[in-house]
Amino acid sequence: MSKAADIEQAARVLRAGGLVAFPTETVYGLGAAAEDVGAVDRIFTVKGRPSTHPLIVHIGGADQLGDWAAEVPRPARLLAERFWPGPLTLVLRRSGRVPLVVTGGLETVALRVPSHAVALALLSEFGGGVAAPSANRFGSVSPTTAHHVREDLGAAVDFVLDGGPCEVGVESTIVDVTGEPPTILRPGGVTREDLEHALGSSLSMRSSRTPIRVPGQHPSHYAPRARVLLVEAEEIVGEALRLQAQGGRVGALLPPAYRCAASAGLVVVPVPESTVEYARKIYELLREFDRRGCDVIVASSPPRGGLGLAIADRLHRAAGPRGSVSAGGPEGSGR
Ligand code: TXA
Ligand code: MG
Repeated sequence: MSKAADIEQAARVLRAGGLVAFPTETVYGLGAAAEDVGAVDRIFTVKGRPSTHPLIVHIGGADQLGDWAAEVPRPARLLAERFWPGPLTLVLRRSGRVPLVVTGGLETVALRVPSHAVALALLSEFGGGVAAPSANRFGSVSPTTAHHVREDLGAAVDFVLDGGPCEVGVESTIVDVTGEPPTILRPGGVTREDLEHALGSSLSMRSSRTPIRVPGQHPSHYAPRARVLLVEAEEIVGEALRLQAQGGRVGALLPPAYRCAASAGLVVVPVPESTVEYARKIYELLREFDRRGCDVIVASSPPRGGLGLAIADRLHRAAGPRGSVSAGGPEGSGR
């Protein structure tokens, strides 16, 4: 675990224009000083991420909202007060303090206060905003341990803060609060139900037909090396055995009700009983199939209530067409 001296060292690295990987409650982030254009540029290079794809600016508290947003509409204030620190990102009109390199040229900025002692200590020690995407290469599985970060990014990161495994396990929910009603751009760690309860009104969801403006919205994202195939839960074993008969190493991500089904020769990874635990483990489970040399993973989408919505979203993106993740990206292509 990171100690005070590590936090001080990490803040020094940020001030010097370096990159620091740090834990949050959702996934590990790859951070740079948000106002340092050169440092932010390096994030895009290290991740292999197209420069038009905006980053989230992490801040130390809701009281800093006005420093980074040009205006703070009432629903934004309400959601920040209710869910920060926590796995919620708010998209607002940017203030002059936010360089365009952070927002991929957009006039809006994504802001969040992470709920993790190490992240908050870093933000407090550093004093400014930290622009950070998930600390993985563009398109691949997000890291939920410091070990994942080192595996994926290695020496490209100047300093890694270790805060243990992430509690929530899926990224923050992103809500665009620039319009009425607010729109969920990406489901995540705060559920749609909790957001609607807090607002006392319903939220719209970004439709899959809306042109793609940002990463994480691409059909293939969050993807392990193995191909992912989604079927109905009762068809997982049958489909996996059929694929196995064609050759190759086949994995099955099996929900609790299907545990004792015949699965000879398959790499079976059980789905955790609770949705909270499933969200916490989803990326680790996908990585496990890669570690065990699977060519394909057969899985099913969980029910979309609560955190199930975010898990289903990540599984669908992991199963999306692979060609669509090439750098340079199909920005605005709608694919
Ligand atoms: O939980 C999280 O959100 C993690 C941790 C590290 O905080 N971060 C994360 O960052 O998932 P990243 O870069 O992998 O995803 C950030 C997403 C982008 O995919 C994009 O959809 C959205 O934030 N985003 C950023 N700026 C935006 C903007 N101005 N308008 C709309 N969406 C924006
Ligand atoms: Mg990401």
